[in-house]
Amino acid sequence: MPADVAIVVLAAGKGTRLKSERAKVLHEAGGLPLIAHVLRATTQLTRRGRGPVAGVWVVVGHQAEAVRAVAGAFGARTVLQRPQLGTGHAVAQAVAALPRSLARLLVLPGDAPLVRAESLGALIETQSDSGTAVALLTARFENPYGYGRIVRAASGEVEAIIEQSALRPEQAGLREVNSGIYCFHRAKLLPLLAQLGRDNVHREYYLTDVIALLRRAGEKVSAHMTAEPDEILGVNTPAELARVDTLLRRRKAEALMGCGVTLYQPETLAIGPDVAVAPDTIIERGVELRGATRIGRRCRIGAFSILHNAVLADNVTVKAHCLVLNSRLGEGVVVGPFAHLRDGADIRAGARIGNYVEVKKSVVREGAKAQHLTYLGDATVGRKTNIGAGTITCNYDGVNKHPTTIGDGVFIGSGTELVAPVKVGRGAYVAAGSTITDNVPPDTLAIARGRQVNKSGWARTRREKLAVAKARKEEPPVTVGLAAPPRPAARKRAARSRPRRQARRR
Ligand code: UD1
Ligand code: CA
Repeated sequence: MPADVAIVVLAAGKGTRLKSERAKVLHEAGGLPLIAHVLRATTQLTRRGRGPVAGVWVVVGHQAEAVRAVAGAFGARTVLQRPQLGTGHAVAQAVAALPRSLARLLVLPGDAPLVRAESLGALIETQSDSGTAVALLTARFENPYGYGRIVRAASGEVEAIIEQSALRPEQAGLREVNSGIYCFHRAKLLPLLAQLGRDNVHREYYLTDVIALLRRAGEKVSAHMTAEPDEILGVNTPAELARVDTLLRRRKAEALMGCGVTLYQPETLAIGPDVAVAPDTIIERGVELRGATRIGRRCRIGAFSILHNAVLADNVTVKAHCLVLNSRLGEGVVVGPFAHLRDGADIRAGARIGNYVEVKKSVVREGAKAQHLTYLGDATVGRKTNIGAGTITCNYDGVNKHPTTIGDGVFIGSGTELVAPVKVGRGAYVAAGSTITDNVPPDTLAIARGRQVNKSGWARTRREKLAVAKARKEEPPVTVGLAAPPRPAARKRAARSRPRRQARRR
């Protein structure tokens, strides 16, 4: 079969009903912008090779640059629509930009993120098999409000699509809706695009009007109804955005559970569509798994942890409340609770990263441990090395970042500062509380702190002095004979002279 289908994704609109500055298709649901979900489905069709799809074109307009960036990430080309005069106008811009060799157009909206590649494939097949001028993807909705309705003749043939605002009272009960997804025969569509008018409430060129025009020209229209109506849900309002987000997350959660992953309270999880999790792994409540995160077998991800582009081998434990970003955790690693791993932290097999430890751009080799309150930045930590509580690599001098290299089997005492660039040789010891500014050779003990001075009896003497001073303050004022109490002015003078007298005594 020749690859004669151009996929055209309409994504130029602002999305006025979202009442947001951001273009509608860039709003996120299920961990990705709406249009990214659509492009995932379309690229699944192109990737299959040998299929009928030749390429994907995205019609951009509102916030064109930002939408272009997403399209580019999926290898799609873009066509600019400016101004945006409706879905019919958008398709006309795309058709003008497509190679002539492409005889068919699969048109779909960029705001319907639940659509599956299988349904798009089925629609293309419906058009091929029937040879009609257009095949429509439709669905039956309990509540069809807001969608264009499919109007069928008594014979069952599709006659027209009528938008919500143009429905006659007797059409209000129509439940079959237009998905906005169509497979057109290009040569039959082209002359009709030129005939579209703007005689509607929005003064726009409606692509949907093409259906009645085709029928009037004696063409046939076929339709394929989705078994799963949710698949064509579009996003126009904030409430609809929330609904598709819930459905996308549920879809991913169900797919993972179907593969033997245990999810606690799956409705609280946010797992992106590109995340992969192996069987027998347990994911606790409130966890977010983003980007291209990959998790091995028999892992456990603790409650409220967030992993973005994290790669976990088998048997890894991430305890509650951790952040693992662009980092790798080897076999059997234990991390957290409350750990922060980022920017290429590479924690090798059997290593342990404990609570309130931050690791940035560092390699922690096999079996090493940093269990409490530590910062490791631009560091290499050798095998089975122990990093004591509160250790800090001082990697930044205010201008540049510098490396810290710690060998195998090293013991770094608690509260050590390692002022980079610095190296600690294999098997060395660093005494607790040291500030290490020079390299430590292998098997050496480094102590870098002020020497301790013990003053014998000092504390007891101090306590005694304090007790005497306190007793003196509590004595009642001495009034001698019948002497009158001092006048206010005299009292003030007495108060002023007191410190001077004390100073003299010292
Ligand atoms: C459209 C259909 C409706 C269908 C519904 C399904 C029309 C007239 N109506 O309505 O029958 O039930 O989709 O979701 O087509 N866009 C452009 N350029 C424009 C206008 C829109 O690229 O000038 C893009 C939008 O960014 C959006 C898509 O086309 O991604 C659909 O536009 P939208 O305004 O959401 O159409 P609906 O009113 O939902
Ligand atoms: Ca829409």
